[in-house]
Amino acid sequence: MEIEYVKAKTLKEKPAWDQNLGFGKYFTDYMFTMDWTVEKGWHNAKIEPYAPICMDPAAMVLHYAQETFEGLKAYKTKDGRILLFRPEMNARRFANSNRRLCMEVLPEDMFVEAIEKLVAYESDWIPTAEGTSLYIRPFMFANEAAVGVHPSNAYKFVIILSPVGAYYPEGVNPVKIFVEDEYVRATKGGTGFTKCGGNYAASIAAQVKAEKLGYTQVLWLDGVERKYVEEVGTMNVMFKIDGKIVTAPCDGTVLPGVTRDSIIHLLKSWGYEVEERHLAIDDLMEAGKTGHLEEAFGTGTAAVISPVGELNYKGEIVTINNFKTGELTQKLYDTLTGIQWGNVEDNFGWTR
Ligand code: COI
Repeated sequence: MEIEYVKAKTLKEKPAWDQNLGFGKYFTDYMFTMDWTVEKGWHNAKIEPYAPICMDPAAMVLHYAQETFEGLKAYKTKDGRILLFRPEMNARRFANSNRRLCMEVLPEDMFVEAIEKLVAYESDWIPTAEGTSLYIRPFMFANEAAVGVHPSNAYKFVIILSPVGAYYPEGVNPVKIFVEDEYVRATKGGTGFTKCGGNYAASIAAQVKAEKLGYTQVLWLDGVERKYVEEVGTMNVMFKIDGKIVTAPCDGTVLPGVTRDSIIHLLKSWGYEVEERHLAIDDLMEAGKTGHLEEAFGTGTAAVISPVGELNYKGEIVTINNFKTGELTQKLYDTLTGIQWGNVEDNFGWTR
């Protein structure tokens, strides 16, 4: 891919490289942009100064939300190497999201190449303090100026970068979760398996409701019966019940998480039985009340692993592992982040 490099006149002052980075507050000096039109296909690839994007008020994304995105991270090892974690998985999921939203599909090798080139160009922005990384946010949107509903005939693909610390202020400490039985996140035939902005827009009402009640996030139930557990906040969710790990199957409503997949591989390599199946909320609460629910945690790129310490379902409260981070949860976090930061041997060939 031919990329034009446009130099910035001035560079930004970098924030302190520590945990106070928070999540998604700072952005680097440059971004990657590329356009697609029916006439020209993919063209105009640039690494240019990070700046506002000029668009027509009729740009279709502003009206009908043809927008998809991804999230992954770059890490700098102690000996100065730059690592990406399974970017080809994000490339594939991005393509699947774009297919579902009838958007142009970006070839997977171009997706990875654009990320590698931008991250290499901005490598000074990869923080090195423990628990920090460079969050990579690729996204695409419908850029045709038209207000009729149809697949857009122009798209823009952009990548921005943000040095980040922990996603939740709690870090790897347990969070309180409200089981949401009014709003739903996804139903079969919908867009639950994609990473599109619309999914997140529709989820915010439940998040606000949970926060008002003193909870960090929600546990989503299935959209038809409100009976089975699906995800937690913006993350996949796993439960350790009687020594086995149970998580919802990826059959249309759940996001096929890269962290989810990696955790399943790690667990199986350690000899754990992993059941990808529908788990009824009633059975989960029962397991919690009778001491069979040993650990619970969300998995996602942003927070990596976020332990669940408390569930509130219709006013009934279950505390998990005495509101402490479970042993397996901690081991998974340490191993996965160890691989990502280049401190633990990567036997799976995940980093590149
Ligand atoms: C993740 O867990 O990586 C997410 O999807 C969160 C992101 C929307 C900030």
